[in-house]
Amino acid sequence: MNKTIIARTPAEMEEIGANLAPTMDNRMVISLIGPLGSGKTTLVKGLARGLLVTDIVVSPSYLLAREYQGRIALHHIDAYRISTLEELAEVGLDELLPPTSGVTAVEWPSRVEGIVDLSDIIVRIELLDHQARRVGISGGQHFGTS
Ligand SMILES: Nc1ncnc2c1ncn2[C@@H]1O[C@H](COP(=O)(O)OP(=O)(O)OP(=O)(O)O)[C@@H](O)[C@H]1O
Ligand SMILES: [Mg+2]
Repeated sequence: MNKTIIARTPAEMEEIGANLAPTMDNRMVISLIGPLGSGKTTLVKGLARGLLVTDIVVSPSYLLAREYQGRIALHHIDAYRISTLEELAEVGLDELLPPTSGVTAVEWPSRVEGIVDLSDIIVRIELLDHQARRVGISGGQHFGTS
């Protein structure tokens, strides 16, 4: 998978996430790369909806991570304040990565060396004019193998 979609509104960004949900299998990792306020959490809200999560998804920034139950459990990690896999393990978040059951969505994955490489799907969001965002979706090197 390698495609680019323009999201003109937050609702369109959510829709992109919702449309990704059926392509997600257990133990897949999705990395969300993009600047502050670009819509990473907004996309995860849609992903959660598509995974039939009924809780309201909020940014995990201050808690680092949250877990939601749906068709598949959704682990939502914000790695903004984490810099190594060791640090991730120290705060217990390595338990939210495969082989743990569920889908794991990671905001700021590039902060932790190794996360982007182990991702099945990589979403790159760029800010365009006005409210528009360019959203690139690609299968990571493990896509389709898990
Ligand atoms: N086209 C769009 N797609 C997504 N969000 C948009 C769009 N246009 C405006 N917004 C607004 O931009 C903000 C995106 O916030 P969101 O929390 O999803 O970003 P984020 O990338 O997770 O930020 P952070 O890096 O702080 O976690 C929201 O306030 C949303 O309403
Ligand atoms: Mg966010």
